[in-house]
Amino acid sequence: MIIHAVAFAPGRANLIGEHTDYNQGLALPFAISEGVTVRACSLDARRIDAVAVDLGKRDSFPLDALERADGWRGFVRGAAGELLGAGVRLAGASLEISGTVPRGAGLSSSAALEVALVLALLSVSRAVEPDRLELARMCSRIENDWVGAQTGLLDQISSLYGERDRALRIDFRSLDVRPVALELDGCTLVTLDSGEHHAIASSGYNERRAECARACAELGVSSLRDVGLADADRLPALLRKRVRHVVTENERVDDAVAALSRGDMAELGRLIDASHASLRDCYEVSTPAVEEAVGRLKRAGALGARIVGGGFGGHVLGLLPADASVPEDAVEVRPGDGARVTG
Ligand code: GLA
Repeated sequence: MIIHAVAFAPGRANLIGEHTDYNQGLALPFAISEGVTVRACSLDARRIDAVAVDLGKRDSFPLDALERADGWRGFVRGAAGELLGAGVRLAGASLEISGTVPRGAGLSSSAALEVALVLALLSVSRAVEPDRLELARMCSRIENDWVGAQTGLLDQISSLYGERDRALRIDFRSLDVRPVALELDGCTLVTLDSGEHHAIASSGYNERRAECARACAELGVSSLRDVGLADADRLPALLRKRVRHVVTENERVDDAVAALSRGDMAELGRLIDASHASLRDCYEVSTPAVEEAVGRLKRAGALGARIVGGGFGGHVLGLLPADASVPEDAVEVRPGDGARVTG
């Protein structure tokens, strides 16, 4: 019998809390309505046939002799490999992948792809879904071990736990995920493309992660969640800047949750601006194209604007009051539902 399944997983925006996830810190992301859809149908043969509709490319590989591959193919093979490694009796399948999240834009097209692939493969194999945290970890291993990007859990948790009208306060130490009402008092959140796209694995992302690990080693702690600004001052200049960003960004996340609960949009905008300044000056993940996009949003009247995601290009996020002159190419983002099997 042929089994059909359709899985959808959203990308994410992040209100605040950048480069904190792999430092066991805090973040306040939300799932967006754009995402990746995987249509699957089971095959009798033990192989995966995959078509990336938007790229016009195909891949086919046997499940019993999985080999690694580059680009989108690495994600498909990683999804199959991780599920097999977790003991799932995976059925052969033909997969059709299509998406609406811009790739390499800082809106987490990668996590949307991983999550949709894993959900579709589980469904077509009639396997029980593991709990969502376990799924997030599995998807993150696809990225870390099969694609080579040493990313944290921000994107996968956002995609899997997303809720309409809510952001998610995530504590990456306890892995507690708390929905926070995203009521913006008439303001809107928009993203604007800087025009510069990147692959996380080949940007400076892994280098930043290694710098944080070096700072931990120098301070004798297992994560930067355990340090304060006074500790940062004991480090050499470059590591001091990186740690200052992480420590102050964690504080800004809880300040943003408090500002939201008071409906204080001016303060939320100020925190978003401060996050951007810290990502630019201390974490050094901005670029001239990103600065230009942030400048356009600020000139349009944004209360706050900042880079989102790994950095080194991608989209910027702006908080616009009702009377702002929204740039034509800006796209409004609202919190939407998390990943799901839809058919
Ligand atoms: C990318 C990674 C995430 C996170 C952000 C920065 O999106 O995939 O894990 O580290 O960058 O906050």
